[in-house]
Amino acid sequence: MSNSPYLSNCTADTIRDGAAALKAGYLVAFPTETVYGLGADARNPNAVKRIYEVKGRPSDHPLIVHISSINQLEKWASEVPDYAIALARNFWPGPMTLIFNRSEIAKDFITGGQDTVGLRVPNDPIALALISEFEKNTESAIAAPSANRFGHVSPTTAHAVFSELGEYLTEDDLILDGGLCSVGVESTIIDCTGNCPRVLRPGAITEKMIVEVTGLKLSAEVGINGASEIRVSGSLESHYSPLAMVLLDQPPIAGQGFIALAKLPTPDGVIRLASPQDNEEFAHELYASLRAADDLGLTHVVVFQPQGAGIAIAIRDRLFRAANGR
Ligand code: TXA
Ligand code: MG
Repeated sequence: MSNSPYLSNCTADTIRDGAAALKAGYLVAFPTETVYGLGADARNPNAVKRIYEVKGRPSDHPLIVHISSINQLEKWASEVPDYAIALARNFWPGPMTLIFNRSEIAKDFITGGQDTVGLRVPNDPIALALISEFEKNTESAIAAPSANRFGHVSPTTAHAVFSELGEYLTEDDLILDGGLCSVGVESTIIDCTGNCPRVLRPGAITEKMIVEVTGLKLSAEVGINGASEIRVSGSLESHYSPLAMVLLDQPPIAGQGFIALAKLPTPDGVIRLASPQDNEEFAHELYASLRAADDLGLTHVVVFQPQGAGIAIAIRDRLFRAANGR
């Protein structure tokens, strides 16, 4: 297909090509440890506009700005409380997005018109190399939502990015292939605009870890059924959905897909899509196995949710929304 984006294995050359494509205003999908992002120059309104078009996402939903290190934080954020510095020092690079009052370079087209900006330093060598190379040549950073169509399952492989977005990207856009994402669910989002941190979206950085590092109580919990007045599209009740109907914690019947910890047996005629050994592996395999349900044309997929705290909270949050997807 002549208008397909270039899907590339990563070398130093392709990282340079990626940074050059971003500088020229094109889109570059890249791996992070959570999920793949669809990147654009965070200071180029036309490039950012294309992210919204390619994703089919409403333009008032803000984008995360990906920076190369904590040193870039104050370029984009205007008030940074001490507890946020502690979080950044401990968990960046890593699966954590911090929300701050914005500086003047974070324009409305990035923040969805809000006075806050989301920042993250991802822990992936390709992402970090791409962001550093891009920052070196510009005074900018990379705005990137997850590289899926709005409301769909986030991609954890480059091929999943291609199957989600290939038809909407052009031959000048790039998809960098960094293999399977190690964490597998999106970053923890923490609102740092108040006196205490507030979790807006659970992820691999857990509330317990946040409390340990900051010594503060969290100001309010946004739980599985929680709502927030800040616009976080991942907090919509219908999100992260495959085409197959997701059913939670009920006995699967023949012909249905099934995702559960390895210790749980597969009933006769049921199509096992994943058998993770523990909750980390569950997160790592979840989105690829939901996609596999669609690839196999299954109409239903049953998921036995992992119990307990830690990353299981993020998994249950995403599954609750995936199951409400219709
Ligand atoms: O792990 C991740 O966070 C991935 C990788 C690519 O970094 N990104 C990601 O982006 O999940 P996205 O756009 O699919 O989800 C980010 C969420 C959105 O729900 C958005 O509304 C919220 O972050 N967000 C971004 N900036 C915000 C802000 N200033 N205030 C509140 N929420 C914000
Ligand atoms: Mg997303």
